[in-house]
Amino acid sequence: MDRPYIICHMLTSLDGKIIGDYLKEERAAYFTDEYEKIHRRYGCRAWMCGRITMEEHFTFGHQLNLKQDNFNAIPRTDYVANKDAKGYAIAVDPSGKLGWTKNYITDDYGLGDHIIEILTEQVSDAYLAHLQKLRISYIFGGKEQLNFIVVVKKLNDLFSIDKLMVEGGGVLNGSFLNEELIDELSLILVPIAEGSSNSVTLFETRSYLNKPKPANFLLKDVEKLDDGGLWMRYVTKHD
Ligand SMILES: NC(=O)c1ccc[n+]([C@@H]2O[C@H](COP(=O)([O-])OP(=O)(O)OC[C@H]3O[C@@H](n4cnc5c(N)ncnc54)[C@H](OP(=O)(O)O)[C@@H]3O)[C@@H](O)[C@H]2O)c1
Repeated sequence: MDRPYIICHMLTSLDGKIIGDYLKEERAAYFTDEYEKIHRRYGCRAWMCGRITMEEHFTFGHQLNLKQDNFNAIPRTDYVANKDAKGYAIAVDPSGKLGWTKNYITDDYGLGDHIIEILTEQVSDAYLAHLQKLRISYIFGGKEQLNFIVVVKKLNDLFSIDKLMVEGGGVLNGSFLNEELIDELSLILVPIAEGSSNSVTLFETRSYLNKPKPANFLLKDVEKLDDGGLWMRYVTKHD
């Protein structure tokens, strides 16, 4: 395979919501801890999130104040700042909105994952210059729209990533499902029903995606967690 094996690793309520008030319930903390532990159990060097998730959890909405003028045009070619990192944090940020101030994300153990930005060619020269200044790697996934088949092949070719965890949110997961790129689904089921209908679900769709079609999975394993939770592992059923 010239692309990584792709695991979508997520936590949901009983009604398939990935965010919501159910996560504020006291017992939910145990399941979010389990989510992180299971992430580590997979031993993947690379994980990926959508722009909204990265903004919420890692850049905390920080806005860059980039001057847009006086920049020489920067060629829209991939930029590899570190091809031997121990870990990679991959941000899907088509138009370059994330306000990074360093080129790595640190986990609880102080280990830094090198950031790779996934961009379209619509990104500004100022943003590319900012990424180069911080030595943040970036790759182009399309002119105006992202093609994740191209993206994951580049991750394999340029960074030798052979196993990738796709970790939300719903729009990013939906994009991978849409391009039939999910090999395995790792789902932590929290025994709480969120109940609100406007909360983001496991797989969301957007107008720029193909018409979604049902995707079939086969159960690979199921493990009971404490307090009535489940860790379910499904693999994609190919026709
Ligand atoms: N329960 C869990 O396990 C879990 C895990 C992760 C995240 N979350 C939660 O999920 C929520 C966010 O989910 P979300 O679905 O709203 O956002 P998301 O998937 O994190 O990010 C969506 C954004 O990523 C970019 N993007 C993703 N796919 C794209 C595509 N095919 N083409 C172009 N751009 C694409 C776009 O950025 P632009 O808008 O810049 O164009 C899009 O708006 C957060 O609240 C987070 O806490 C939950």
